[in-house]
Amino acid sequence: MIIGLDVGASLTKGILIDDELRLLNKNITPTIEPKKASVKVLKSLLKKIGSDYKGKVKFIAVSGGGSRFIGDRVMGLSVRRVNEIKSIGLGGLMLSDKEECLVVSAGTGTAMVAVYENGKIVRHACGTGVGGGTIIGLSRRILGISDFKILEEMALKGNSNNVDLTVGEIVGGPIGIVPANATASNLGKLTCESRAEDIAAGIFNMVSQTIGVLAAVTAKALNLESSVILVGMLPKSRVISRIICETTSLFGAKAIVPGDCEFANAFGAAVIAKQEVI
Ligand SMILES: Nc1ncnc2c1ncn2[C@@H]1O[C@H](COP(=O)(O)OP(=O)(O)OP(=O)(O)O)[C@@H](O)[C@H]1O
Ligand SMILES: [Mg+2]
Repeated sequence: MIIGLDVGASLTKGILIDDELRLLNKNITPTIEPKKASVKVLKSLLKKIGSDYKGKVKFIAVSGGGSRFIGDRVMGLSVRRVNEIKSIGLGGLMLSDKEECLVVSAGTGTAMVAVYENGKIVRHACGTGVGGGTIIGLSRRILGISDFKILEEMALKGNSNNVDLTVGEIVGGPIGIVPANATASNLGKLTCESRAEDIAAGIFNMVSQTIGVLAAVTAKALNLESSVILVGMLPKSRVISRIICETTSLFGAKAIVPGDCEFANAFGAAVIAKQEVI
């Protein structure tokens, strides 16, 4: 068995897989402190195996920005660090069953990785600092709320049209390649009187549309527009994945959210480390 661990800026994700890469267990916890979060996730994953886990788990493959803080051994298991760009790329490829794709890791920030030839070629294509951290940060300051689930509920109840300016409102109808209801200016109508739910909807909309536009133009530039794979925690939100998919579609690319998308980086790390051992 192998453990794949992704120590992200916000969340630490872990998976336990067998030698045929079948998923046996998974767990997520906030990355308040990288080493403590890693130990917490490992303990949860290892519950399935029992106290003699050291003979059964070969190693822990670790990726994510926090991986540099966890040392070379955790709970008696050796640690193998894996390049995050490679593990995002291969993890997304694996979960989506594609031969080539643009993997969009939408987490605290957003990274886009192009993968060709069944994973033989992996390239860091693009990225943006607009991501889940932007939702949390803006909401903390503007709404006084930083709990993602509460914000998502609010966004569902709100209407982003009350804070965003549409193309129709500015030019009176569609323009160029975009319809009248497309966003012309995210939060362009925000006022001190705007309802909290509408602001939440506007923030979710702005972040999701930014990721969607960038994913579409990047995919099109790389001839990968039929295979945009959304991974990371943000696409777990139905509101966010719906808007990203609508936006990529508006600009001529097709995005999908594979199952276990939040564990893509952990999967990729485990697969790469396994290949390197063989
Ligand atoms: N239940 C949830 N569903 C969807 N998104 C969530 C949920 N809880 C938190 N988030 C969002 O997910 C973001 C973190 O995503 P993720 O875990 O993929 O990033 P990370 O790996 O920690 O960061 P990075 O990859 O940028 O280092 C948070 O910033 C938050 O906005
Ligand atoms: Mg991440």
